[in-house]
Amino acid sequence: MPTTERIETGIPGFDKLIEGGLVKGSTNLLAGNAGTGKTIFCMEYLWNGLQKGENGVYITLEQRPDEILSDVARFGWDFSKYITAGKFVLESLVASDLTAVTTRIVESVKKIGAKRFALDSLTIASMGWRERPEEAFKIRSKAFDMLNTLKSLGVTSLIISEVSRGEKGEISKFGFEEFVVDSVVLLNYMTVGGASRNVQILKMRRTDHGKKIYPFDITDKGVVVKSLTI
Ligand SMILES: Nc1ncnc2c1ncn2[C@@H]1O[C@H](COP(=O)(O)OP(=O)(O)O)[C@@H](O)[C@H]1O
Ligand SMILES: [Mg+2]
Repeated sequence: MPTTERIETGIPGFDKLIEGGLVKGSTNLLAGNAGTGKTIFCMEYLWNGLQKGENGVYITLEQRPDEILSDVARFGWDFSKYITAGKFVLESLVASDLTAVTTRIVESVKKIGAKRFALDSLTIASMGWRERPEEAFKIRSKAFDMLNTLKSLGVTSLIISEVSRGEKGEISKFGFEEFVVDSVVLLNYMTVGGASRNVQILKMRRTDHGKKIYPFDITDKGVVVKSLTI
């Protein structure tokens, strides 16, 4: 049986929880509340790719690019030289239409031959349906198209979902993304009884992943998952 090709996230302590890395070409939902470390996690994944010669694209609908770049410079990640060299694209888009966002993703990924991609966030990209419930179906179908397009590009993706696990156990806005994606990774930030962060892998296709709740820190090197037995 051929072994599944993996893309190391390079995030200390994380790859060993997922058989060495994300499945090459997979779409991975990274869910969590605001402030749980999703943006840092994605930038770390992309930074580590650049160190291995793998080009990356980060599309944000949340923050200004200069703001993100200066935030992560704290961790010693200077993306500017990779942007200049055409190896990294950090693009800020207005979440007007999911189909337009998908088109931009395809253009940027193809332009630099990106191997790694992150979208921040699918939640913002899909905003509007709560206000216009009659459009929920349309937006779902566009989100579904976007995820399938990423698959066909062969890029290994992190898709941020700006929500935590809800009352019914759902971890995405529409409750369907988690079935369409190959994996769901949930970041938590607990403030009861002292602040602590943890990560859980709720699902990962083709992977015998760690099933526990793993504490992590955001250090001066970015996200570091604490060393525990799997
Ligand atoms: N240099 C740092 N050292 C320690 N923690 C940090 C540092 N920079 C940011 N953080 C923590 O990371 C959080 C922001 O992470 P971020 O990835 O932007 O979250 P999200 O994208 O999930 O909203 C901050 O609220 C803070 O708690
Ligand atoms: Mg963020």
